[in-house]
Amino acid sequence: MPTKTPPSIIAIDGPAASGKSTLGLKLANELGYLFFDTGVMYRAVTWIALDHHIDIMNEKAVTALAENSPIDVVPASKSDGRGCDVLVAGRDITWETRLPEVDANVSVVSAYAGVRAALSQQQRRIGQRGEVVMVGRDIGTVVLPEADLKVYLDATAEERAKRRFDELTARGAKVDYDDILAKVSERDRIDSTRDIAPLKAADDAVVVDSNILNVDEVFERVLNLCK
Ligand code: DC
Repeated sequence: MPTKTPPSIIAIDGPAASGKSTLGLKLANELGYLFFDTGVMYRAVTWIALDHHIDIMNEKAVTALAENSPIDVVPASKSDGRGCDVLVAGRDITWETRLPEVDANVSVVSAYAGVRAALSQQQRRIGQRGEVVMVGRDIGTVVLPEADLKVYLDATAEERAKRRFDELTARGAKVDYDDILAKVSERDRIDSTRDIAPLKAADDAVVVDSNILNVDEVFERVLNLCK
């Protein structure tokens, strides 16, 4: 029987904390592909703005940062739980991009048209090289509509908040579930109602419900779609 080659460009979209990065990294490792989590680029711009004390509501200034900051996303250099390294002008800001103040502001930054234009263009260039698993909100709809396989990973806000709570608690953080749920819901609201590239499944995406599947089951399901 002829063996089918796996899809070269794989897009995984879905809401915050739906398990996209875990799935994407596992899949990329399995296929020997590049793993590219596009959310880290929006996070990097947000962190740079906060670090420079730039008002997040100042769209012009934040957009200029997105257009001019040398942001690099490269394979992980350390095994400390990161999926990739995020570098700004050579400085490793991987964990800074996960700070709560970045979480709280990144949806506003990622709704700016100029920020999206600057970052999507870089993402598209990397994605078009192929052999890539690209994770985000608009990969299958806007960045790479020609992707060979599109997956939309979904779960309820309650389930995603629970996972985020467990993850943070395991790292020793003192967090409140209701607070996390409120933040996840607010990010969903901003991400899915923005004018440009709102979060939604592409018409030709395979929707995978991770409420009823655990990490391994989601992985097996998507790996089967690749074979
Ligand atoms: O997946 P994440 O939580 O790291 O994403 C951070 C933010 O970036 C989130 O508010 C949505 C936004 N984002 C986006 O608008 N488009 C993408 N392709 C990836 C992320």
